[in-house]
Amino acid sequence: MNVKQFLRRIIAWTVGVSVRVKIMGIAVGLLLLFGVGVVIQVQRVTRATLTRELDERAVSIARDMAARAADLVLLEDFISLRDLVLDILTSNKDVRYIFVLDGRGNVLAHTFGHFLPPDLQPANSGDQYPGGFRIQRLASEEGLLRDVAVPIFGGRAGVVRVGMSQERLGRILSETTKRLLLLIAAVSLVGVIAAYLPARILTKPLLELKNVAEGLGRGDFRARARIRFGDEIGQLTTSFNAMADSLEAFRRDVTQRNEELATLNLVAATVSQSLELQKVLEDALDKVLEIMRLSHGEILLFDAESGSIVPRIYRGISSQFALEIQAFSVGEGIPGLVAQLEQPVLIEDDLADDPRLLRRSLVAREGLRSMVSVPLRSKNRVVGVLDLFSSNVLSLTPEQLRLLVAIGDQIGVAVENARLLEELKAKEQMRLHLLEKVITAQEDERKRVARELHDETGQSLTSLIVSLKALESMTNLPELREKAAELRALGGAILRDVHDLAFQLRPSVLDHLGMVAAIQRLVEDYTQKVGLRIDLQVFGFEGRRLPPATETALYRLVQEALTNVAKHAGAKNVSVILKNGGTSVQAVVEDDGKGFNVAEVMGYAAKDKKLGLFGMEERAALVGGKLTIESTPGKGTTVFVEVPLEP
Ligand SMILES: Nc1ncnc2c1ncn2[C@@H]1O[C@H](COP(=O)(O)OP(=O)(O)OP(=O)(O)O)[C@@H](O)[C@H]1O
Ligand SMILES: [Mg+2]
Repeated sequence: MNVKQFLRRIIAWTVGVSVRVKIMGIAVGLLLLFGVGVVIQVQRVTRATLTRELDERAVSIARDMAARAADLVLLEDFISLRDLVLDILTSNKDVRYIFVLDGRGNVLAHTFGHFLPPDLQPANSGDQYPGGFRIQRLASEEGLLRDVAVPIFGGRAGVVRVGMSQERLGRILSETTKRLLLLIAAVSLVGVIAAYLPARILTKPLLELKNVAEGLGRGDFRARARIRFGDEIGQLTTSFNAMADSLEAFRRDVTQRNEELATLNLVAATVSQSLELQKVLEDALDKVLEIMRLSHGEILLFDAESGSIVPRIYRGISSQFALEIQAFSVGEGIPGLVAQLEQPVLIEDDLADDPRLLRRSLVAREGLRSMVSVPLRSKNRVVGVLDLFSSNVLSLTPEQLRLLVAIGDQIGVAVENARLLEELKAKEQMRLHLLEKVITAQEDERKRVARELHDETGQSLTSLIVSLKALESMTNLPELREKAAELRALGGAILRDVHDLAFQLRPSVLDHLGMVAAIQRLVEDYTQKVGLRIDLQVFGFEGRRLPPATETALYRLVQEALTNVAKHAGAKNVSVILKNGGTSVQAVVEDDGKGFNVAEVMGYAAKDKKLGLFGMEERAALVGGKLTIESTPGKGTTVFVEVPLEP
């Protein structure tokens, strides 16, 4: 970690500590700064004062010494001079040494044991004495010394040198500093304690705000911070509380919306489970009662034919009550009003006293106190009404009522869908019925025409041929005989055509001998006329007949399949299989022709008015069977039909 990183970390830590610590830190820091300033200043002033004082004392001692030494020097009384020197040394604590020099620099007396240290004399030498003395600072083993030189008789008689120790000065200074530092430490401690209180007062609301904010983060939307003062923190708290208020309201809103959506989903999921109207109604009513925690309810549907609203299902209401429920005209009674105004009606209490109520005695007897009635709508059209009753007071919030209306709309749509599906089913039933009628009529008509052709026209033609034969034998005229023979041949050809036509229309063998025989004849016919090689295989019939409708349908299916092969396939081989499995009968017509795209043709065919394949499908469906066509272009076609048989 380099210095930069270390500093960065320190700054991050400093910034990261709590506000309370910051405030106290600032207070202590300022106190310390102030204290250090004071110490430095006091030291400076004290040192200057003490130094000056020391210098003054040194000068005065040296001067005193010089005055007292002057006579002794002149008298050359060196013994007394030495006594004087030692006397002054012992009576002045700070004086470290004294020595006296004569005018030429010779030592006359000194306070050292044997001799004067050699470098001491030149350390403060010279002729100049500004102000009557000269001071020199000297370094020694025991610290700094102040060496003062004072001349005797202007220097002519000599010089007195006094060395003063600064040790005491240093001691005093360090003592003072120590005390000051102690004082500062004590003041700092008091400062910390003193700062703690305002810091606490200042930070307490902040701390509380922080706790509330954390609570909000955790999802506790009820906690609020106390507003203590009208200062900035107070204002911040006010704003914060307002924010928490709106957050709480927002969350309540969202939760409620979610619940509503969940309920709607539930209803939607329930009503979409079935497409049968009765089941839709039952499921819807049960679910709504469950959601609303109610037990009494009914659903009424609008009946377009009578123009009234008719009760369809009810829950929790006794059958006696139910029996008395009649249809309501639009605008009549509470359901009638709801349907007319397309608005919900909520009667929270005293239902029996409501002037709109029609089933008053029954409501009283059933002990119902309240009700809510909502329209069931689909595409902005009322399709019915949902009534919920309670034997207690029923207070719904506007949101609950709105939800109920939304549920009503959902049920409305489900009801409408179920109804449409029922209508569609009925129409399909009708269509099949009509188709059956048309096909039956067509078959009957074909049968009649075929019989007429066969019996009437055929008989007439036969007798005509017989007459011509007779005519032929009656005459000897060769021309006439020839003409008669010609006409007979023509009559024979017409008779064959008529028989063919009758067969194509409807072979009598179908009615007399059955489908298998008719199909055998059909196959023979196609083999002869179209030149196809047809392989017919029959299983499980053994003279058994099928219901006439099934026989006709299968015969026509095979007929159309073979016609298609002849018309479109360009096939060489065809296989026809008839199989009676007991529970169902199957017919398969398979060719090895060019094949076709079934999906495409079945999509286009209707437009093209090609009805063959569709006709096959319809015929199969009419007898409860199913047609499957499989074809791959280039690989042939398989027509497969299976019709179930009644046991
Ligand atoms: N076995 C087959 N092989 C090849 N193509 C076929 C076969 N059967 C049907 N198709 C194709 O399917 C089309 C539709 O057949 P569909 O029987 O519906 O009509 P169609 O035979 O053309 O006319 P319609 O039967 O109404 O007289 C035919 O035009 C033909 O192209
Ligand atoms: Mg066809």
